[in-house]
Amino acid sequence: MAFLELNNIKTHFPVSKGVLMRKVTDTIKAVDGIDLSIEEGEILGLVGESGCGKSTLSRTIMQLIPATEGSVMLKGENLSSLARSEIRRRRLDFQMIFQDPYASLNPRMTINSTLAEAITQRHKKLKTADLDDRIAQLMERVGLDSRFRQKYPHEFSGGQRQRIAIARALAPEPKLIIADEPVSALDVSIQSQILNLLLKLRHDLNLTMIFISHDLSVVRYISDNIAVMHQGKIVEYGNAEDVFNKAQHPYTQKLIEAIPHIKNIA
Ligand SMILES: Nc1ncnc2c1ncn2[C@@H]1O[C@H](COP(=O)(O)OP(=O)(O)OP(=O)(O)O)[C@@H](O)[C@H]1O
Ligand SMILES: [Mg+2]
Repeated sequence: MAFLELNNIKTHFPVSKGVLMRKVTDTIKAVDGIDLSIEEGEILGLVGESGCGKSTLSRTIMQLIPATEGSVMLKGENLSSLARSEIRRRRLDFQMIFQDPYASLNPRMTINSTLAEAITQRHKKLKTADLDDRIAQLMERVGLDSRFRQKYPHEFSGGQRQRIAIARALAPEPKLIIADEPVSALDVSIQSQILNLLLKLRHDLNLTMIFISHDLSVVRYISDNIAVMHQGKIVEYGNAEDVFNKAQHPYTQKLIEAIPHIKNIA
């Protein structure tokens, strides 16, 4: 049984016109019939240009927006059919990492409070000493010195802030992490540090991850399998190296050609 299985997922948004009498005039087919299967411990790269539906698909998987059609199966259980209250309870099992850690972290909370809040979502009655230990362990896991725990997000660099956001995502011990463009806002040298951190975390914690990016070279580096998304559909899927070296679909070939090559720059 696959860890996560998407069966014919469609997420359509109605477009309505009119001020008083709103009438649905059109639908945006942001996600339009996606089948995918992800194994436990796998990193699936989801790549495609802006507006192709990557974030909508991730929000549908997280049950943040309802699928218009289709089912999301987690270890054989149909999440799409769970009651809202049950989904809220399960949400800890899914955590997201976003492009801009500065926007996703609370600027008025120290790292200590941010991580304490995230840990106690799962473990409500921890003793202070145990909570402190867990915070230190989490910081160490993502490569941050736990002596900085009383600092605020603005006191860190962009890369360090993304490490904090990763620690916060790990704090409730999720089963699945969806990283939506987690390195797109970072300098190239910092990008590879964060990618290596995510690979190490996958290795250490057997994490299952969906890694979203518009950049095929980044996705190739981190992913086991790659799904190429175009206008709400998966147009190519396969082992990362195969997708890169034996691209079948013209859209994938276009994405590969769009990667800047060192020799072209020199
Ligand atoms: N809540 C919504 N209501 C209406 N349309 C939406 C909504 N959310 C997304 N869309 C539309 O769905 C399409 C897919 O958007 P989405 O944000 O999923 O793309 P994306 O691949 O994540 O793009 P980007 O790379 O820019 O983040 C776009 O045309 C967008 O305008
Ligand atoms: Mg997006």
